[in-house]
Formats: sequence, C-alpha cells, structure tokens
Amino acid sequence: LDDLLDEDVQGRYVLVRSDLNVPLDDDRTITDDGRIKASIPTITALAEAGALVVIMAHLGRPKNGPEDKYSLAPVAERLGDLRAAPVRLAELGKELPNMAAGDVVLLENIRFDPRETSKDDAERGAFADELVALVGDDAAFVSDGFGVVHREQASVYDVAQRLDSYAGGLVLSEVEVLRTLTGSPERPYNVVLGGSKVSDKLAVIEALLPSVDQLLVGGGMCFTFLAAQGHGVGSSLLEADQVDNCRRLLDSGKIVLPVDVVVADAFSADANTRTVPVEGIEDGWSGLDIGPDSVSVFGSLLRATKTVFWNGPMGVFEMAPFAEGTRGVAQAIVDATAAGAFSVVGGGDSAAAVRALGLPEDGFSHISTGGGASLEFLEGETLPGVAVLEEQ
Ligand code: 3PG
Repeated sequence: LDDLLDEDVQGRYVLVRSDLNVPLDDDRTITDDGRIKASIPTITALAEAGALVVIMAHLGRPKNGPEDKYSLAPVAERLGDLRAAPVRLAELGKELPNMAAGDVVLLENIRFDPRETSKDDAERGAFADELVALVGDDAAFVSDGFGVVHREQASVYDVAQRLDSYAGGLVLSEVEVLRTLTGSPERPYNVVLGGSKVSDKLAVIEALLPSVDQLLVGGGMCFTFLAAQGHGVGSSLLEADQVDNCRRLLDSGKIVLPVDVVVADAFSADANTRTVPVEGIEDGWSGLDIGPDSVSVFGSLLRATKTVFWNGPMGVFEMAPFAEGTRGVAQAIVDATAAGAFSVVGGGDSAAAVRALGLPEDGFSHISTGGGASLEFLEGETLPGVAVLEEQ
C-alpha cells in the first residue's frame, strides 16, 4: 500500500477489496464490527491521499441474487459513522455515482452477482471486466480483505490480474503475524481448536500436529474425539464418519481433550444443565461447553505456553450457561500473553467471543480478521488472493 501511496493517487480511482462480512442480529443490527474497524485504516489512508475509493465487499452467502437481508446498507452506515464521513452505497451493475477526490463508495454485496463466486474462470473473468470498467484501466486495486484471500473469487482474484495491484496494510500485517507461527515459534507452542465440526478442522489439525507441542480440543468437535476414545457422548454432536480419523489423530499423543463437560437436556439458555466427567455423559443430554476441570487443565497448559493460536469457541458461548469454558480458556491466553507469550486469535467466531465476553482485545498479541483464511494459511495452503499479488 505504501508503494501506491508514494505514487500520486490524487483523483485516481482505487478499487479496494475489504472483508466487511460482519454478524448481524434478526433486526439487521451489527453485533460485532471488528472487521469494519480493521478495514478503516486503508480506506482512510487512500481517501486522505485524494483517491476515489470504491470498496467491494460481501455479506453472507446469498444464493438468489439481491436480497434485502444480505444488503450491505447497515455496513455502509456503520463505516460512515466510524469514519465520521459518509460512505455511499452503490447498486451493483449500475454506473458509479459521481465521485470527488477523497470520496468513499461501497458497492452493494458483491455476491449478489453469482459470477463473483463462480468456479468458471470465464464467468468470473467477465464479471471482473465489468468491475474494472466501472473505474477504468488506470485504476489501482488494493487487496485488504484478509478474511477472504483464501477465496478464488472475481473481486479477490480476477480483478487483481487486471489492474495495477497492491496488498493493503491489513493483509500485510495479518500475513506477517501468521508467518511467525509457521516459521519457528517459541516453545511450547500450543494450539486451541473449538467449533462444531471435526470435518472442517481435519486438514488444519493434520497440518499442525507435526509442529505443535500440544493441540487442545474443545467445542462441539471434541465429542467425536471423545467417542474415538470409547466414551458415550449422549446426544452431543457426533460425526460418526470421522471417528476413525480422530482415533488416528489421537495416536500422535499431542491432542488434549476435556475431562468434564457441561451437558444440557435441550439446546436452550434455560435448559436443565449438569457438569459431568466425560465418562458420564448420559443419553438424552448433549455437551454444550467444556467443564471447570477442563478449564483448569487447559488453563495450566496455556499459562505455561510461549506461543498460542486459538480458533473456535469451547462451547455455545452465546448462551450464558455455556460461556464459561470459552471465557476461561480466553482468560488463560490473556494471562499467558501478559507473561510474555505470543498469542493469536484466529477467526470470526473466536474474535467475536473475545468481544462479546468483554475480554480485553489488547490482552492478545493479535486478533485476526480471518477465520477460514487464517486456518488455510496455517495449513500451508496457497491463498489465491495473496498469490495473485505476488505474481504481479
Ligand atoms: C469469513 O467470514 O470467513 C469470510 O468473510 C469469508 O466468507 P466465506 O466463508 O463466505 O467465503
């Protein structure tokens, strides 16, 4: 980005890909604006340099073209409020509104056009051509949506091939931090993984096991591991087709599982709950959080760690009775960080949990804006949105 700012961007169109994919509640109120805040420095730097800034971003995964519930309108408004300067929302597929130097326009949800996410290169390319035509061939492209650089999509990948392209400050800083983890992290290096499905995390677990000292598993996915150890898991989430994979991963001797769990008789904040050892999960009950003894086990390992990466909540933290596992683990990481450890929180959900549970954001060394993107980076996958910039 600095290279671009060193050039004269006064009066030049700059197309920016940001990741503004934020959670909204049923009233379409933004519940966590971390990604919007993280996107502002690049947008502001370009606007202050006099560029005509046109932002491309997505919200959710719309499948049927434009739909109000996927509109970026609340995001444009929040972005404007946070910048204290209006951000106009422009319809997709229309000419841009008139813009002056320093103006910021946000294009409506880029995924309203199905060609954005098409697997067909020609379809995506045709859409990228239309996006480029909005701003002209002399425009520059800044890739700043780290959370989406693992997607080979028109606004991330194909546009970069067509314009003078740069990495934004957010992409650069995220890649630099995550390289610390894939390089030679200070030991012990522990990873904490949560979230619901083992199948989503299998690749990252396989990739991380050789380099970590311990991999702590909580969240819904721990029950498939517990089943692989021979425990009954009652009505907890279980991916039966992954039990053999879990057994094989457990052979590494590096996976640490909960010793107790909070079980409930319904998926509800007012369900009946009990804390039971992992040997004692009864039929009809599902585990919705790790228990206090597990928090102690995980906490003592984490407080002694020098490097830690955490992705995925330990339980259904959105409901108070099942939030303590996530809170306890996050607090242990904060304590480790205060004692000098290097800590990275990866992923939309875990970053949102940090903020929702009122933990100090500056208690961690880095909170990544990328969920899938940070995991794929740690897996050693080539991220198309980064590779395309390196090819330039
Ligand atoms: C994310 O939320 O991880 C990014 O915004 C990417 O969204 P996607 O998984 O729908 O591509």
